[in-house]
Amino acid sequence: MFHHDKCTSSDNSSSIGDTSFQRAVRRCSSAIILGALVAVVALAFVSRAGARPAADNAAGEQAFKTNCAVCHGADGTGTPTGKALKAPDMHSDVVQKMTDQQIADQIMNGKNNMPPFKNTLNKDQIQSLVAYVRSAFGKKK
Ligand code: HEC
Repeated sequence: MFHHDKCTSSDNSSSIGDTSFQRAVRRCSSAIILGALVAVVALAFVSRAGARPAADNAAGEQAFKTNCAVCHGADGTGTPTGKALKAPDMHSDVVQKMTDQQIADQIMNGKNNMPPFKNTLNKDQIQSLVAYVRSAFGKKK
């Protein structure tokens, strides 16, 4: 990216060598500062991007434990209550073959013995629940 040959003065004639050397140093250090800035910005970006999915999953996991585990169980297989109500195993094809939209709709509107959550959960929470149902109980790709 940066040309190191620009960092050393190629001008060896003694008297004006000084000024061009200084110029080279100035140009070099600004390049180094610029490089450092770019690196810092890039790092900040990468670490924030890396932290996101984990945060989403934590939110999804929390929402699942709070709202869904009563029937579906923290492990997704279903509690005795859930089984009595005919709640399917979250790992099953019945669930995992649903589209994200279908799962989101089901959470919002409920179905048969499953209550609707559109008044208690917001869109973000429902999205993170859909992601959690996929990541925690879906087949690993
Ligand atoms: C009161 C018990 C109960 C709670 C709480 C509950 N469910 Fe259900 N869930 C059910 C039952 C019963 C079914 C089966 C519905 C049917 O198809 O008759 C079901 C089905 C599902 C299905 C599969 C779709 C289907 O039609 O079979 C998904 C996905 C699901 N629930 C997700 C969730 C999520 C996510 C939550 C938390 C926001 C949640 N459920 C909370 C009882 C519950």
